[in-house]
Amino acid sequence: MGYVHLIFLSTFLSVSMTSETFEAMEGEALVIKCPRWSSSVKVTWYHMDTSKIIPAEEEGSRIFSSKRFLWFLPTSREDSGNYTCVILFSNNRTKSFDMSVHVHPYERGICFPSQIRYPNDTGRGKIVCPTIDNYKNATIIQWYKDCKPLQGERYFKAEKYIFINNPRKEDDGYYTCQFIYTHKGNMFNVSATRIFISKEKHSPLPPQILFPKDNDVIEVELGAALSLKCQARLGIKKQPIAVVTWDVDNVPVKYLDFSRFNEKTNFFEGRAQEYYRETTLHITEIKKEDLQANFTCVAVNEMHNTKATVTLQLKTPREGLQ
Ligand SMILES: *[C@@H]1O[C@H](CO)[C@@H](O)[C@H](O)[C@H]1NC(C)=O
Ligand SMILES: *[C@@H]1O[C@H](CO)[C@@H](O)[C@H](O)[C@H]1NC(C)=O
Ligand SMILES: *[C@@H]1O[C@H](CO)[C@@H](O)[C@H](O)[C@H]1NC(C)=O
Ligand SMILES: *[C@@H]1O[C@H](CO)[C@@H](O)[C@H](O)[C@H]1NC(C)=O
Ligand SMILES: *[C@@H]1O[C@H](CO)[C@@H](O)[C@H](O)[C@H]1NC(C)=O
Ligand SMILES: *[C@@H]1O[C@H](CO)[C@@H](O)[C@H](O)[C@H]1NC(C)=O
Repeated sequence: MGYVHLIFLSTFLSVSMTSETFEAMEGEALVIKCPRWSSSVKVTWYHMDTSKIIPAEEEGSRIFSSKRFLWFLPTSREDSGNYTCVILFSNNRTKSFDMSVHVHPYERGICFPSQIRYPNDTGRGKIVCPTIDNYKNATIIQWYKDCKPLQGERYFKAEKYIFINNPRKEDDGYYTCQFIYTHKGNMFNVSATRIFISKEKHSPLPPQILFPKDNDVIEVELGAALSLKCQARLGIKKQPIAVVTWDVDNVPVKYLDFSRFNEKTNFFEGRAQEYYRETTLHITEIKKEDLQANFTCVAVNEMHNTKATVTLQLKTPREGLQ
């Protein structure tokens, strides 16, 4: 067995490709990825220093491979080193990629080493949490700027990014998202940092919800279907960030029972190239509990976010005292 993979190793070493570096914090979860190839049949991971195959997850394993991914749950200082993934194709050819992993020791008083950086985000206010897509069901617990927790009205927090209202020069800096990943009941911290550089360009228009009006009450009948339309003006010309969506009691519709709630979005340009989005929430059947719920339309662009909440009420006042 050892002999076979040594031969394998010596053949792939000659065709080894690009090298990539991954920076991680000690004691955090880390997952690194082998490039994707549609015709790949199998991916094998090796530790370069020992030439050993890294097997799939077993009971209690800390480092394991899972197809294109190599997992460290969690990282340890001695994991620093070189790893290779070898892709086997259906014609028996292989391609390999070297990855270098650097684990930074945890030190008191140093929040995140400045080396842990992902590509710069130059822009208009949206900062996406790097690497979070590698982790299933991860939850961001905190954002930091230059190691200080981010707080305040100017930051709109979404599932995988933050949005800075009207970014200015003072907003430039290192942004770190810290999230929690749960694997088989064990919780791991992960942090990832990127640079944000604001781009002082024209400002879009403050988002404006044309309808519904905040606090509108809509008359409904139990058991009937309902469509709630929300239209917002977001700026002049197509906006890089343009979200118009519905929440029911602060829960985004995409997390609700699809057979009861779903939404559809359209966009269009009005006069003077004003950019609008319109999202319709469809409720298949009004139930009693919907009469107690808040239906909130949220409109977000790169500048700001705004909301309008409506509630439902039965058409016939005789139905009860509510
Ligand atoms: C990893 O590879 C690089 C260059 O390929 C080499 O300079 C470095 O010493 C290696 N690191 C370890 C820990 O072997
Ligand atoms: C690939 O290798 C396997 C085992 O060495 C062999 O059985 C198979 O015929 C080869 N396939 C091709 C397309 O060369
Ligand atoms: C990211 O921004 C930093 C600081 O301005 C700069 O030194 C670095 O070259 C930038 N990197 C890229 C890839 O643009
Ligand atoms: C995702 O996380 C939520 C809350 O943390 C949990 O309730 C849910 O079961 C998780 N889903 C999966 C598929 O792990
Ligand atoms: C995650 O980090 C926080 C502090 O940033 C710490 O309090 C917590 O214990 C850590 N959790 C795990 C599972 O390591
Ligand atoms: C609906 O919104 C009102 C006003 O903000 C609030 O008092 C109420 O608790 C909300 N209801 C629910 C179910 O969240």
